[in-house]
Amino acid sequence: MPHETPALPTTHPLALPTERTAGCPFDPPAGYATLREAAPVSRIRCPAGFDTWLVTRYDDVRAVLADPAFSSRGASSAHVKPDLDPYADVDPGSIIQLDGAEHSRLRKMVVAEFTVRRVERLREYVREQVDRHLDAMLAKPGRTDLVQDFALPIPSLAICELLGVPYADRQLFQHQSSLLVSTGLEAGASAQAYHELAGYLGKLFAGKQQDPRDDLFSKLIVRAEASGEPLDLDELIMLGLSLLVAGHETTANMIALSTLLLLERPEQRAQALADPPRAVEELLRYLSVVQFGVLRYATEEVKVGDQTVAEGDWLIAALNSANHDEDRYPRADQLDFTRESPRTHVAFGFGAHQCVGQQLARVEMQEALTALFRRAPDLRLAVPKESLAYKHNALVYGVEELPVAWSA
Ligand code: HEM
Repeated sequence: MPHETPALPTTHPLALPTERTAGCPFDPPAGYATLREAAPVSRIRCPAGFDTWLVTRYDDVRAVLADPAFSSRGASSAHVKPDLDPYADVDPGSIIQLDGAEHSRLRKMVVAEFTVRRVERLREYVREQVDRHLDAMLAKPGRTDLVQDFALPIPSLAICELLGVPYADRQLFQHQSSLLVSTGLEAGASAQAYHELAGYLGKLFAGKQQDPRDDLFSKLIVRAEASGEPLDLDELIMLGLSLLVAGHETTANMIALSTLLLLERPEQRAQALADPPRAVEELLRYLSVVQFGVLRYATEEVKVGDQTVAEGDWLIAALNSANHDEDRYPRADQLDFTRESPRTHVAFGFGAHQCVGQQLARVEMQEALTALFRRAPDLRLAVPKESLAYKHNALVYGVEELPVAWSA
């Protein structure tokens, strides 16, 4: 049969695909499959209103993210946050937006705390928190919102423990974190959330300067001084803020959305529980919660696939599309815990900025999901699935609330 090239959408310029298939909250918007086939590097108008290239194929996405010709200055996701200025100066300390030597200097100061070995030491703490929350939740038959009572507290407690942030202050930083990943804010609202969180962290760092403890924020002060290139307070605050915000929303959404998915697929649940590390990789690939990709800026003319990208152009590396590229993952729109090389996905990005917290996220997901389904084997949705609301207006996709019930 002759292979037919799918028709491109007729809007001009093209838009970022955002429409998910009705009834399937898990697959990425279908428009990506069309683009991968017909225009894998296409010119689009991003939701924030400026023109960018949209890169949709797995190989191209990895090539872009590994290429130092692309700057990360836009990695604040200005393409989907109209209240941000993509050309604004990058804040010192904003690890995710810095390039080259400035970026490696900061990354070196934190990376040791996130290695497999170091994070394994936190596993016991994560397990205790998971058990404590499940003890409280399952003590009697009932119903709860799994997002607020389980999926959010576990990563929040873990990142607080690691960084040395008092969990008692969670109302402030959980609220500001959720604002910072929202794409539907009024002008100036992100700046206001940064400002409030920065004020909070400034006081916290000042306290740690006086009285350092055995936590990452204290170590950052000491380590930076010992390196001969001390971080000034603004850098410390921005680096701390990046770690605190990134450590919350992403994993919490993965835990809640994975729970919903596994509730729907009881036949695959046992398979997932039999090999949690493998299952978590496939969940990360399949759900790809960083739903609008990551923004880059071409510092010189570069070829991406067959397309020449000019110096000064913006470009979106669509992580969810790459993870659903049929050329890399046969039957990509199916959840399949038996895939070979489950760790090749780009849910954590790729290249110099690949997620620092990925081992921590893995441990949190493994512990949370296995304990939840072992201890509440009859866990079920407490509302019709059609009534659930999803985070379409946030950098990180997920379910707003997940009311669940259990019997014993
Ligand atoms: C399932 C959970 C998570 C997902 C899907 C995720 C995803 C990502 C992605 C896609 C990037 C790359 C951004 C880019 O290239 O512009 C990234 C970077 C980053 N992530 Fe995560 N993340 C997760 C959990 C965490 C956790 C728990 C932390 C804890 C601190 C964290 C901290 C960071 C930091 C600091 C960066 C910036 C690294 C750099 O620029 O060098 N993330 N993450």
